[in-house]
This record gives sequence, C-alpha cells and structure tokens, in this order.
Amino acid sequence: MAAQLIKGAEVSKQIREELTKEIEELKEKHGVTPGLATILVGEDPGSKVYVGQKEKACNNLGIYSVRTDLPADTSEADLLDLVKKLNDDSKIHGILVQLPLPKHIDATRVIYAIEPDKDVDCFHPVNVGKLMIGAGRFLPCTPHGIMELLKRYDIATEGKHVVVVGRSNIVGKPIANLMLQPPPGGNATVTLCHTGTKDLATYTKTADILIVAVGQPKMVTGDMVKEGVVVIDVGVNRIGKTPEGKAILAGDVDFDSVEPKASAITPVPGGVGPMTITMLMKNTVVAAKAS
Ligand code: GUN
Repeated sequence: MAAQLIKGAEVSKQIREELTKEIEELKEKHGVTPGLATILVGEDPGSKVYVGQKEKACNNLGIYSVRTDLPADTSEADLLDLVKKLNDDSKIHGILVQLPLPKHIDATRVIYAIEPDKDVDCFHPVNVGKLMIGAGRFLPCTPHGIMELLKRYDIATEGKHVVVVGRSNIVGKPIANLMLQPPPGGNATVTLCHTGTKDLATYTKTADILIVAVGQPKMVTGDMVKEGVVVIDVGVNRIGKTPEGKAILAGDVDFDSVEPKASAITPVPGGVGPMTITMLMKNTVVAAKAS
C-alpha cells in the first residue's frame, strides 16, 4: 500500500487560519498587533527568498512586519546596534536575523544580543536551555513544525524509536530533545546520528520514526529503512533547473525508493518546509501575547 503523504502545506494552511483568528482577537480585545522584525545582511539569493516569504506571511496574517536589508559589508557593531534598537521597540515582539551571516560577523554574538523574549527563532542559549528542561515559551520553528505535523496526522511518538540524522543546532539537536521530553513531549527513545556515526544504516533500519536533516540530496535510500517507518524529510536541496529556470528540489531522502516501504512520509516540496515559517508566525503571536 502506498505511504500516507504528510502534507505540511495543508497543515500549514490550517494553522494559519487558526492564527488569523488569534491575531484578530489580540487586536480587538487587547489592542496588541504582533510585530516581527527581520534582518537580512548581504545578497544571498536563498536568504532573500526566505526573508521575502516571512515578510509575505506576516502581511497575509495581519502581523506588523519591519524588514531591514543591510549591505554585506555591514559591521558587527552596526548590526548589534540595530538588534538593540529593536529589543527596545515595544511594537516589535519578535526579532529574526537571517542566517548565515557574512563571515566577518560573529553570528553567536548577534544571537546572544537578541532579547530572549523576542527570540522567535529560539536560538538564544537561554531559550535552548529552557527547551532542554521542557520549560520553553518558544519552540524552534522547524522542530516545532515536525511535532505539529505528527500530532495532526495522529502519529504517536510515545515509546517509539525515533532516529534523527543530523546534529545541527537548528533542527537535529532540538528535535532530538523535543522527542525525548516526557509527555506532553515526544516521550520517545531517541538515537541521534551524525557525520561521525559509523554504519548509519544499522541505526536508520531500527527507526520507527526517521527524521533526516543533513542537507545532502537523496542520502537515505530504501535499503536503509524498515517496512512501516514514518519518514520526516527536512532537506530542501536544489538539484537542477527546469528548462523554464525553476529550481528542481530534492529532499535528503530518496523518495522513490523509501516511499514504498514507509507507512507515512513527507514530500519535498510541500512537507516540512511550509511548516517552518508558519511556526515562526506562531512564535511571534506567542511573544505578543506574553508582552
Ligand atoms: N537560515 C536558515 N534557516 C533559518 C532559520 O530558521 N532562522 C534564521 N534566522 N535563519 C535561518
């Protein structure tokens, strides 16, 4: 039987409808309009697209949005000054500095400068620490999106073996953490694999739920998974262009060989991707409610 497709694009639409109502209520009952500031430094085309999508999502939902585009040679001091100004701006509830930053800027120092209550990415060490002890106000956007997808597709994580491939600070480490939290967290048994893991397939074959976030197109193949696995593919890799110049995307999972063995799987595009920006909007609303 064909695997169930976990359609993030549809779930994302549903959550945005829920958020629209929450935002209207916040405005009417409390006179608060959620506000998000985005900062883009430099000309990276991918980052430009992502920041544009975030701005558009704000506009569609009625979130006040302030975007600042800075030249690639902006100094770290100037960027830190801007973050400080936004920390002090009461109309702004969330601050997002698009990563990666140019090499001459220390991204850690910039993330540390964001007021933790406005850190809607959940990258600040205070928020990362709160996440680890299950006490966070915010959850990081992509891992939060994954948890929400599983919940809304009624895929239980309790007692399951979750194998995460990839140890990034943005996806791998936080999703492993959310999965091992006691209820209402994932309550799963978690294995975290990375580039230092020997014989990766030994681990991926034992996964009830396999989450892959490595940034390598089609890295996980059908022979590396067991029958009935639930597959969450976080990868969005550009592997070419159509004759019309549109990007051809592939996940980190080889969909064609894995899908026949899976019970459920996220497609690329239209799986995890659309959830990330939606959960950023959610965090901005959470921050505004707490203000
Ligand atoms: N670059 C790639 N993903 C992200 C993200 O989730 N947040 C920020 N700030 N930068 C990114």
